Amino acid sequence: MPQATIEPLLQVRQLDIEYRTRERRVRATHDVSFDVWPGDRFILLGPSGCGKSSLLKTVGGFIQPLRGEIALEGSDIRGPGPDRMMVFQEFDQLPPWKTVLENVMFPLLASRKAKRAEAREQALHFLDKVGLASFADALPHTLSGGMKQRVAIARALAMRPRMLLMDEPFAALDALTRRTMQEELLALWEEERFTLLFVTHSIEEALVVGSRILVLSPHPGRVRAELNCHQFGLNDFGSPAFQSAASHIHQLLFPPAVNTPLPSASQEPDYVTATVHSS
Ligand SMILES: Nc1ncnc2c1ncn2[C@@H]1O[C@H](COP(=O)(O)OP(=O)(O)OP(=O)(O)O)[C@@H](O)[C@H]1O
Ligand SMILES: [Mg+2]
Repeated sequence: MPQATIEPLLQVRQLDIEYRTRERRVRATHDVSFDVWPGDRFILLGPSGCGKSSLLKTVGGFIQPLRGEIALEGSDIRGPGPDRMMVFQEFDQLPPWKTVLENVMFPLLASRKAKRAEAREQALHFLDKVGLASFADALPHTLSGGMKQRVAIARALAMRPRMLLMDEPFAALDALTRRTMQEELLALWEEERFTLLFVTHSIEEALVVGSRILVLSPHPGRVRAELNCHQFGLNDFGSPAFQSAASHIHQLLFPPAVNTPLPSASQEPDYVTATVHSS
């Protein structure tokens, strides 16, 4: 019997992203390739300005790359679609005149994915999952930052997207709330098993939230390494293995000196699955 071929959900190949204005060109990424598999919690990690948001926006279909290919389930991404939902860092991503429930229902109705009754049921289901069912009639300005992010997550998941795209969704929260949100996101993932593409510049957050990490160089972003990190959870903070992984990633992000080579593939701990790039 022929074997079914399993393909990556998202294939990114040799992606160059460039911004052009009348005065200048800015190269955001250079030759970036990676695959995201169904159920992955895939992290884009790198310093400010290395092109993480640009990569996410390209997957979202909001930016066309200068060069390279990007395909979802084998089809080229040509624009935004309800199969890829975004959650941003900013707390103002919810229209303030709509209640929490209306906010979560809105994409379902606008995309004609559901009629009103079904959209309401779906929205309430996901509001319940993020612990906000009792705030369905509240307006966004009456919510805390963490609560607004929970609404944005419920709104995205209610669409049952092929991928959930998150751009530093917890970066503007205080440390305690951030940790709670990481816990809640992982608990939601355990239940729903969505595919996550998550941007952060925090090494700790990458190790805790991710199952795989793409480490990018400073501007313009190139792939430094791809690491497996599914073995780390919230309870591993501070363990020797966690500390060693964090310091290894730190070295990849900030090589000790200009002429010191990056660790070679043979020196890598066993969680490194792809080549370490020295450029
Ligand atoms: N709309 C734009 N027009 C021109 N240049 C842009 C635009 N957006 C981003 N850039 C440039 O592209 C590069 C990558 O930016 P991007 O926002 O993707 O980085 P990032 O890794 O998300 O950074 P941060 O961690 O600070 O959010 C930067 O040099 C930035 O100045
Ligand atoms: Mg960014």
